[in-house]
Amino acid sequence: MKLLTSCIIGALLVLPSCAKTKTDKNKDMSNICLDISKAKSFLKEGVYEYYGPKAMSALKAVEDGTREGNDFLGWVNLPSSMTPEFLVDIKEEARLLRENCQVIVVAGIGGSYLGSRAVIEAMSNSFQWLTNKGENPTILFAGNNIGEDYLAELCDYLKDKTFGVINISKSGTTTETALAFRLLRKQCEDQRGKEMARKVIVAITDAKKGAARVTADQEGYKSYVIPNNVGGRFSVLTPVGLLPIACAGLDIEQLIAGAKTMEEATSTSVPFDKNISAQYAAIRNAIYMDLGKKIEILANFQPKLHFIAEWWKQLYGESEGKDQKGIFPASVDFTTDLHSMGQWIQDGERSIFETVLSVEKTQHTIYFPHDDQNLDGLNFLEGKRVDEVNKMAELGTQLAHVDGGVPNIRITIPEINEYYLGQLIYFFEKACGISGYILNVNPFNQPGVEAYKKNMFALLNKPGYETESKAIQERLSSSK
Ligand code: PA5
Repeated sequence: MKLLTSCIIGALLVLPSCAKTKTDKNKDMSNICLDISKAKSFLKEGVYEYYGPKAMSALKAVEDGTREGNDFLGWVNLPSSMTPEFLVDIKEEARLLRENCQVIVVAGIGGSYLGSRAVIEAMSNSFQWLTNKGENPTILFAGNNIGEDYLAELCDYLKDKTFGVINISKSGTTTETALAFRLLRKQCEDQRGKEMARKVIVAITDAKKGAARVTADQEGYKSYVIPNNVGGRFSVLTPVGLLPIACAGLDIEQLIAGAKTMEEATSTSVPFDKNISAQYAAIRNAIYMDLGKKIEILANFQPKLHFIAEWWKQLYGESEGKDQKGIFPASVDFTTDLHSMGQWIQDGERSIFETVLSVEKTQHTIYFPHDDQNLDGLNFLEGKRVDEVNKMAELGTQLAHVDGGVPNIRITIPEINEYYLGQLIYFFEKACGISGYILNVNPFNQPGVEAYKKNMFALLNKPGYETESKAIQERLSSSK
């Protein structure tokens, strides 16, 4: 009992590293914080410190563009270089779509949809789908799979709706997105007429090339450019993320303002002991390389953050998983998954570490209710905030997992709003660039993604793939 009490006090006394920014000096605003104490304690003395200078020199390379992948660093200064006029234009387009559409379908895959979906789901009522009273259009996502049933059911749902489409593809040739766009465009034109369709279809794509650009120019769709020097998974703070987010009625100025504070707080002028992106990059590499832990699990205790984890998995998986190296990014939603994955995390192969997204303040208040019969024995919780119970589940889980040999990193978010989501996004992006460079890979390319496409096109006899088609057919028949 005494030990348990001192553990709880110890856990509560931890002083995390919080991002410090110049711009918020005069505002009463906190920032997201990073607590690595329960991960550092797994490392031998000096190991984490060894990664400090490495992280700072990797950060310098990210900012100076002195290493491989430097043609994809356009995201680094996006928040500080965003003009108010640009945001006004996005908001104006969003207004137009909102006024003319009950439903807006965002067609895109990977970096062309995960960021906006993450922010929109984090900020939306969990039951918006069922309770939407028409204040905001319903935002749906397509073009991120080749599921025939998914597409058929989507088209069926849209049959009696006024809908618009945001077609997002940097290359303009991605099969999943192009397929969805073909179907949606035709249905939109059929249902709403060509003229209205022209108003409610928007393209976000390359400045010059690709099918999405050509169609947009031919049809006169409003279009936005994905900067050449910003890769898909780093593009949420470009129109790729901003337009869908604005269409959902969310405050993109606050999103950018939050990201901007984090741009400052994680720049080379901020030393390692205060630089949370550099610290996160350092600790995860130290755990990976020194302890050999190959899997990082991003855990949340708020189901609204599910898609933040999906976005994070792409960011880190696609950036670091190359040259036969890289931490495997996984994710869980707690406490839900404590009842499915909890056993493995507590007691399975010790190849994991955990990063927890902890939200300090919820948006609603509910108290644990009384029950006269108390058959479940839970009346001792009567009158407590549900969030207090959740927080104790979080703390209890942290202690249990640490006891079970799982290093624990904790990121605290004051509350879920656009400002802190902007901070979180930029924090992770910056840390990802730093982490990739510490690992000695190019974090900004994704050569491995082409392999499945090559096989798929060969199997589907795409013109130009004749040699590959022949080879793959021979391979398949020889393995029969
Ligand atoms: O991060 C990336 O580069 C990828 O996830 C792409 O965003 C994804 O493959 C979609 O590509 P595109 O935008 O060209 O359709």
